[in-house]
Amino acid sequence: MHRPIGIFDSGVGGTSIWKEIKKMLPHEDTIYLADSANAPYGEKSKEEILQLSIKNTEFLLEQNCKLIVVACNTATTNAIDYLRVNYNIPFIGIEPAIKPAALHTKTKKVGVLATKGTLSSSLFHNTSKLFAEGITVVEQEGKGLVELIETGQTNSVVTRGLLLSFLRPMLDQNIDCLVLGCTHYPYLIPLLKDILPAHITLIDSGEAVARQTKAILEKNNLLNATNHKGKAIFYSNKGIEVLRNLVEDSDAHIAYLDF
Ligand code: SIN
Repeated sequence: MHRPIGIFDSGVGGTSIWKEIKKMLPHEDTIYLADSANAPYGEKSKEEILQLSIKNTEFLLEQNCKLIVVACNTATTNAIDYLRVNYNIPFIGIEPAIKPAALHTKTKKVGVLATKGTLSSSLFHNTSKLFAEGITVVEQEGKGLVELIETGQTNSVVTRGLLLSFLRPMLDQNIDCLVLGCTHYPYLIPLLKDILPAHITLIDSGEAVARQTKAILEKNNLLNATNHKGKAIFYSNKGIEVLRNLVEDSDAHIAYLDF
């Protein structure tokens, strides 16, 4: 019960998920692992993503975590099946939010911005097939965006230019929902809102993941006592300044660690 929740991502992006977990589960301790030295995962092979996911999982298990959130779409789509079979704790993954987008769209055209590793995965294709029948899914690889966010460029001229080049073809196809299929991308929401016409709905997975984490802890009788104030620890194997700026929590312990 008193053990922490483990969270890992290819870098700083999964902190968008950590924020939702903290909001929904304020009594839980969390340990977040930012594998920024190896970001982006989206350009790596399935085998490389799997090996990095195993390394992150084993580190979090050494910290005695009771559940692990794979706060990275690319790692979820490429490694979560293996992790679930080979480790004896619950894993929560980030699946692209195709289902809510398919339910919401009026134009029957949904855009998905994600990494190459996510878009080429079978989990992504199966999710699209299952939940987006009769809907056109307009896929766009967000090549370069993770690197920009990892260096704190959530609102730079370069980021805006790159986003515009990705969004134009999607808008030309009349999408009315845009799925943010990478946990780094919620940090682009202010810029996206500035660029996109007002009728486009942005959909990300953060709240749904926090809800699912709570449900699994409840089901397994693993929730912390409600008189406990959750503590947050963050480790990064690259610089910690961007991480600190995005986390925005002065109580959090944020440290460099060569894991
Ligand atoms: C990446 O590391 O390429 C992106 C992580 C994600 O897919 O959430």
